[in-house]
Amino acid sequence: MADYDYDVLVIGAGPGGYVAAIRAAQLGLKTACAEGRETLGGTCLNVGCIPSKALLHASEYFEAAKGGAMASMGIKVSPELDLDTMQGQRKDAVKGLTGGIEFLFKKNKVDWLKGYAQFKDAHTVEVNGETKTAKNVVIATGSSVTPLPGVEVDNAKGVVVDSTGALELASVPKKMVVIGGGVIGLELGSVWRRLGAEVTVVEFLDQLLPGMDGDVRKEASKIFKKQGMTLKLGTKVTGVTVKGKKATVTVEPAKGGDAEKLEADAVLVSIGRRPNTDGLGLDKIGLELNQRGQIETDHDFATKVEGVWAIGDVIPGPMLAHKAEDEGLAVAENIAGLTGIVNHDVIPSVVYTQPEIAGVGLTEEAAKERGAVKVGKFPMLANSRAKTNHEPDGFVKVIADAETDRVLGVWCIASVAGTMIGQAAQAMEFGATSEDIAYTCHAHPTHSEAIKEAAMAVTGKPIHI
Ligand code: FAD
Ligand code: NAI
Repeated sequence: MADYDYDVLVIGAGPGGYVAAIRAAQLGLKTACAEGRETLGGTCLNVGCIPSKALLHASEYFEAAKGGAMASMGIKVSPELDLDTMQGQRKDAVKGLTGGIEFLFKKNKVDWLKGYAQFKDAHTVEVNGETKTAKNVVIATGSSVTPLPGVEVDNAKGVVVDSTGALELASVPKKMVVIGGGVIGLELGSVWRRLGAEVTVVEFLDQLLPGMDGDVRKEASKIFKKQGMTLKLGTKVTGVTVKGKKATVTVEPAKGGDAEKLEADAVLVSIGRRPNTDGLGLDKIGLELNQRGQIETDHDFATKVEGVWAIGDVIPGPMLAHKAEDEGLAVAENIAGLTGIVNHDVIPSVVYTQPEIAGVGLTEEAAKERGAVKVGKFPMLANSRAKTNHEPDGFVKVIADAETDRVLGVWCIASVAGTMIGQAAQAMEFGATSEDIAYTCHAHPTHSEAIKEAAMAVTGKPIHI
């Protein structure tokens, strides 16, 4: 057997790659991880999940103070926005967590190869002019922003920005146009709306949040409109021009019709992300991409090339940090000869707006395509804790197989939907029926009781409506 520098060399230190590297090292494999960024943690920790949540959380406090929600509970304050400090705590959160991964690499003896890696052959990569060999190479290079043809993003200038630029705006734009009513557009649009921007979301499709349950998408539109966002659904952007610090966005109905011009101080382009494979040298190992530019793998995350594996945003499936992490664990375990499995049917997704929007499993539309279903719904307005906390918006919906009662999907709009969806994912992982959830004792008063009551509504009647 050939001698290699490493048992495992992971390319990319995002949530997929760093988890794979740490688990491989924990399993006794000699491991390195190549990362081209200055800091570890990938998109998620540096410019994704973590900094966006730092701003979402802080802006929620600001809005609660400014918008009267605190005053309605007897807390009178006159808040003033200190954006520098708010941005400072965002940077601190990122620094703390990316530094934490560096500490974990040292603790687990994972070598960080600093630089962008390129394949020379299936077991040899070059990083920063140095050649390293490994018995197994894991591609975890993640994804980056999909550009909108004809629209130039300039994050430094801060007028037309992508998600990274939208995290770093130096002042609150008076008017902001968000192109794309998906997860990034709604999360970052919410941040700047709460801080004072007039936000218009331009979405090509007839509804926000493609891929989510139909009822959830409709309710989300109502809620965002009520919060003061202007939604232009079924609308396409035909051009963006920039003059100094101002942009003009030209839009027209997706099905054709009269054009309209929207003036903006900031334009966020958030129309999706695409896999990172440029410059990896995949041609050197004979690995081809599918039509969506992704690397295909089998159930064990092995590619067609022996010794080369792939995980995370660069392979098919939802582009989510927890999906990448679970694939990171599984691929390391498979390389070590154990059985690493990810159940791709049970991957929760959460939009961290307020209220949060979360789901796991099938939408009602997709479930009905497979066969007969029973659906139970329960409004948050009837949940004692949500009502007491002045959080009336949203509902829980449980979708079960009409014959077996097995839960096929759960959808929630609620202030803490992201936390609530965990129990639904666990129930589905264990093959629960709606009756199993309905007869599980839930603590009172919690938002989670709405999941129990929605499950009760599948076959019988909930108590509180
Ligand atoms: P990445 O995190 O993209 O990491 C890949 C790493 O590989 C990068 O650091 C890159 O520099 C490095 N790399 C690429 N090529 C090479 C090379 N040739 N050599 C060396 N290194 C290389 N997901 C959630 O689940 N929850 C959220 O709340 C959430 N919020 C988000 C908010 C925003 C604004 C964005 C943009 C994304 C968000 N996501 C969220 C998505 C999440 O960030 C990704 O799904 C996740 O980071 C994917 O992990 P990954 O390990 O596959 O890739
Ligand atoms: P997205 O796929 O969620 O949404 C993009 C939206 O843009 C879609 O609604 C699409 O119909 C629309 N669109 C596409 N082309 C358009 C055009 N030309 N004009 C107008 N609208 C157009 O992508 P987004 O928001 O950029 O996020 C990328 C990925 O990052 C997501 O897939 C998600 O997985 C991940 N992410 C996850 C988060 C979370 O888990 N909370 C937060 C942020 C990002």
